Amino acid sequence: MKKIIVTGGAGYIGSHTVVELQQAGFEVIIIDNLSNSRVEVISGIEKITGIRPHFENLDCLDYIGLDKLLKKHEGVDAIIHFAASKAVGESVEKPLLYYRNNLVSLMNLLELMPVHGIKNIVFSSSCTVYGQPDELPVSENAPIKPALSPYGNTKQVCEEIIRDTLHASKSMKAVLLRYFNPIGAHPSALIGELPNGVPNNLVPFITQTAIGLRKQLSVFGNDYNTPDGSCIRDYINVVDLAKAHVTAMKRMLDNKCEESVEVFNLGTGRGLSVLEIIDIFQKVNGVEVPHKIVGRRDGDIEKVWANPERANKVLGWTAVESIEDTLRSAWTWEKRLAEERIK
Ligand code: UFG
Repeated sequence: MKKIIVTGGAGYIGSHTVVELQQAGFEVIIIDNLSNSRVEVISGIEKITGIRPHFENLDCLDYIGLDKLLKKHEGVDAIIHFAASKAVGESVEKPLLYYRNNLVSLMNLLELMPVHGIKNIVFSSSCTVYGQPDELPVSENAPIKPALSPYGNTKQVCEEIIRDTLHASKSMKAVLLRYFNPIGAHPSALIGELPNGVPNNLVPFITQTAIGLRKQLSVFGNDYNTPDGSCIRDYINVVDLAKAHVTAMKRMLDNKCEESVEVFNLGTGRGLSVLEIIDIFQKVNGVEVPHKIVGRRDGDIEKVWANPERANKVLGWTAVESIEDTLRSAWTWEKRLAEERIK
């Protein structure tokens, strides 16, 4: 059985990926410091898959701890590195926290991988590296634009750190996965997104407004150069996204990578506006989302959606879930959280 370390495996995308990895027959070791996740997620994963993943409560900034852990779990085949700080706004307030967390964690892993004979790494990157692309849909060879936030910059710099390290190493391989906007939850409603405090992202804010936790959703701007004036994104189902990691992992472990660093966009290829998302959410779930138009949010990109052709053809992965089912899953998850609050 191939052994995979998943850093940030108790987090939103991480937990869904652990489920798919276990269901595909991989043995998983989660490393997570629970800074933005809960330990109950491990039980949720166990309930879905029937397997409790190994769980190590550790911060990837802890070099000595990581070294010990890799010694303990000898024979790891690959690492999927999710663990990172991800709030754009917070990164503007606390840039050094973001640079330290996101860069040093990655550097620790890259430094320890050869020491423990680990050759493969999958890295969580973001479409944020493209900024506002000149051409849409955006493909992997589009220019990297100056980052709009320290968070965005950490993703760009992490990609560079990986490229430089692999250039020097020769025997290591990396796959950089650039996510568009992951949303929704596992169909079992046993795992999903657990935002800390007031959600920054659109869909958790919608579900919390629909359930009554928030009074009203603010739509940030309706004066953009888009058909209805609100921003456009490529919203991708989190389970689809998780499955792409399994496909990428198999490609690496089967030695099918054509280059030492491969890059893939993970999106649907379809752009939807904020107002369209609200509309579809209300229709498919039969629930109202009180909302009002307010001014633009600083740093927002007007429109971005993926050209996923390379992931489709080369990786052999395609997003298949409909936006309707995805928004249904987000609502089912929010209702499940509400039931737990009542208990
Ligand atoms: N939005 C609202 N109201 C809200 C929240 C969001 O109108 O309360 C709008 C935003 O203005 C944007 C869209 O919904 O137009 C999506 O916003 P999100 O915050 O959900 O997602 P972003 O596209 O801004 O950010 C996401 C990730 C980041 C990543 C970025 C890359 O959350 O980590 O994509 O573009 F950097």
